[in-house]
Amino acid sequence: MSSLTESAPWKALAAHRARMGAFDLRAAFTADPGRFTRCSLGLDDMLVDYSKNLVDEETIALLIDLARHCGLPAWIERMFRGEQINATEGRAALHTALRGTAPVFVDGKDVMLEVARVLGQMREFSAAVRAGRHTGHRGGAIRDVVNIGIGGSYLGPALAAAALEPYAAPGLGLHFVSNIDGALLDATLGQIDPGTTLFIVASKTFTTQETLVNARSARRWLVEKLGEERAVARHFVAVSSNYAAAAEFGIARENVFEFWDWVGGRYSLWSAIGLPVAIYLGMERFDELRAGAHAIDEHFRRAPLERNLPVILGLLDVWYVNFFGAASRVVLPYAQSLALLPSYLQQLEMESNGKRITRDGSPVDYDTGAVVWGEPGTNGQHAFYQLLHQGTRLIPADFIAACRPHHALSEHHSILLANFLAQTEALMRGKSAEEVRGELAAQGMSEPGIARHLPHRVFPGNRPSTSIVLRRLDPRTLGALIALYEHRVFVQSVIWNVNAFDQWGVELGKRLAGRILPELSGNAPVSTHDASTNGLINHCKSQR
Ligand code: F6P
Repeated sequence: MSSLTESAPWKALAAHRARMGAFDLRAAFTADPGRFTRCSLGLDDMLVDYSKNLVDEETIALLIDLARHCGLPAWIERMFRGEQINATEGRAALHTALRGTAPVFVDGKDVMLEVARVLGQMREFSAAVRAGRHTGHRGGAIRDVVNIGIGGSYLGPALAAAALEPYAAPGLGLHFVSNIDGALLDATLGQIDPGTTLFIVASKTFTTQETLVNARSARRWLVEKLGEERAVARHFVAVSSNYAAAAEFGIARENVFEFWDWVGGRYSLWSAIGLPVAIYLGMERFDELRAGAHAIDEHFRRAPLERNLPVILGLLDVWYVNFFGAASRVVLPYAQSLALLPSYLQQLEMESNGKRITRDGSPVDYDTGAVVWGEPGTNGQHAFYQLLHQGTRLIPADFIAACRPHHALSEHHSILLANFLAQTEALMRGKSAEEVRGELAAQGMSEPGIARHLPHRVFPGNRPSTSIVLRRLDPRTLGALIALYEHRVFVQSVIWNVNAFDQWGVELGKRLAGRILPELSGNAPVSTHDASTNGLINHCKSQR
């Protein structure tokens, strides 16, 4: 047994859960008209309502006890101060410094000086591209930017660019090439003019196979189209913590935007990985995005645990995973422009806390990171909400909505908001047998008919959800939203005693792909793997 599951706060939570039995949310709201006021928190332009969760005051108090037992306040300080909390890689996790102002020291050096230097480089370069001062090799202004990168070097900028598209510079196209599937690069190259395109090769390590192969193919295409190798210098820049590898690729040092090993890939939007966003929206908007995140950093660091948004949300995640056996959580942005949010959060949460070994190297005896999935509302309503409402699994839901749209179709926005609000209500209250009976009787259905139909039409309700409501989806609120999730994930990791900042689990597949790649050429049958893998390799070879 681990010390976590043996601890007094964990046992108290388990006993509380047993005592809660069939806690009834609908009844909880009827009994306590102040539940919304007590269980919602506003911060700047964001309101978080967690009142539709399966908790009472005692639950929150016990979860806070658990957080204290796990040393959460000290861990928060250790992260902000730049201690090497990513112990398996011997690194700090200092994404907060990328949006902060106060000095932070790593190995005796104030990293903020470096951060300011790169932000300055981004400011200058993005302004030059936007103003047409940084031109292509033949003097044409840049009209398209192609970001070549994957994982954290893709998802953050792609999410921010899509979410903030109303703030984008007119006439500037932004494209993302992430997948090694040549169809994506091929389609992108088909849409752009080599003379007016800037490629950003974004890779922290500059060793990621997909990114390097895509970048090499793009470079070949550019040189072929423009007829000169020298053109690469005007059309390619890199964002990386690995200068040497970027230089080897042929990118001049002054065209490399640096970031550091203390920035995790999935936490890197705030670094030079945000360069495409800065070019697309302007550096002022990128600064606002960072400022929104910084406001959440300050809140996370200073607010009491009981009124601390990332703390409350992270503890609720632990509550459902470990005391209700919830295997997944659904993310439902009621904003089409946040369509990438579920994918972004998949990487953030599942790469961070998909772990089975504690910080001190022992296997966990409790569940850790849940599966994160989702789709924008209202699309999801017409696809998988059936399971949320009447399926057998408990799936906590995060609803995200913005009160004010960026368009003038106000009727559409009212319908969107009505659906968001209705779904949270429906999940919570359900529809009882008496209500169904009353409805069917009012339609004139016979008693035998009612008896037959009734079980299918009852909704048990009592399904937990959290609503995050923004005044408007703007750079500042988006920054705050993303930082809220980053810290929520950190809170989970502290309770589960896992390192949220490494990702050794992704290595094995990469190594095996390296072994299989040469085996795909030639006609000789392959027999060096298990029977299934051999069979699949040989089948693919025979079909090419
Ligand atoms: O393979 C996973 C991963 O290392 C992610 O953690 C990272 O965001 C992504 O690959 C891309 O890595 P890089 O920026 O080094 O190319």
